[in-house]
Amino acid sequence: MNVLSMFDLKGEKAIITGGGQGLGREMALALAEAGADIAIAQRRLEVAEKTADEIRKLGRDALAVSVDVSKTQEVQNMVNIVKAKFGKIDILINNAGIGQGKSFLGMSEEDWDSMIDIHMKGTFLCSQMVAREMVKEKKGTIINISSMSGFIINRPQKQAHYNAAKAAIAHFTKSIAMELAKYNIRVNAIAPGYMKTEMTAPVLNSDMANEWLQLSPMGRFGEPYEIKGLALYLASRASSFMTGSVILIDGGYCCW
Ligand SMILES: NC(=O)c1ccc[n+]([C@@H]2O[C@H](COP(=O)([O-])OP(=O)(O)OC[C@H]3O[C@@H](n4cnc5c(N)ncnc54)[C@H](O)[C@@H]3O)[C@@H](O)[C@H]2O)c1
Repeated sequence: MNVLSMFDLKGEKAIITGGGQGLGREMALALAEAGADIAIAQRRLEVAEKTADEIRKLGRDALAVSVDVSKTQEVQNMVNIVKAKFGKIDILINNAGIGQGKSFLGMSEEDWDSMIDIHMKGTFLCSQMVAREMVKEKKGTIINISSMSGFIINRPQKQAHYNAAKAAIAHFTKSIAMELAKYNIRVNAIAPGYMKTEMTAPVLNSDMANEWLQLSPMGRFGEPYEIKGLALYLASRASSFMTGSVILIDGGYCCW
């Protein structure tokens, strides 16, 4: 098989949660550039609409859906809307997320719950409801967004809830990959290091960010577009023998 044709997503239908901005937007554009039609599903509909418009300009079909990934009914509604529009779902990227710096001793129950609900429960709900559709087609690819924070403990900031959620997503990825392999559904995860997005923008010029750069072998932050190649690889037939993998993309951060 020609290697470039393995990256072709023509006719495929994808959902990207939190796809309106940051890494989600870049991954949505990557899949659209490779031929897929895209549903951008996230809390702020106006942001989703903007990215959906960019995708339409590429000549693909696009849909913006409002969803809070931590709410069962909203996730079911998202799946129903996308199914009604596209007829099937081939690719899901569980990307929606939040960041928060909080010490363990100062962390409230609300801090803990919102972090775990959005990252872990959201990944569970979206994966389960979409996988139930993929099982009917005997075909699908799920990509979960973990973090290098699932491998190491970041410093100097304190974020035990975030680190725990991202480590859980990595292990959850492997667990469901084993259950879904027999249905021809592959599940892998991407674990990014520090990337320049709306999430990190408020701190990129701080002393803390300077410390991150000192700790990073490449001495720079990732540009958002640098996630596109890996997302397309995992979404496409180019990675057809891969499931249950968690791949770091961190400028070498975790080697030190
Ligand atoms: N930027 C980094 O350095 C970095 C590093 C490692 C991992 N990540 C992870 O990558 C993912 C994307 O991060 P980003 O940097 O692009 O952040 P971002 O803040 O730019 O984008 C996050 C998106 O998720 C959406 N979202 C948040 N809560 C939601 C909810 N409950 N339901 C639906 N949508 C919701 C937001 O509206 C936003 O569109 C996150 O899971 C994040 O934890 C980011």
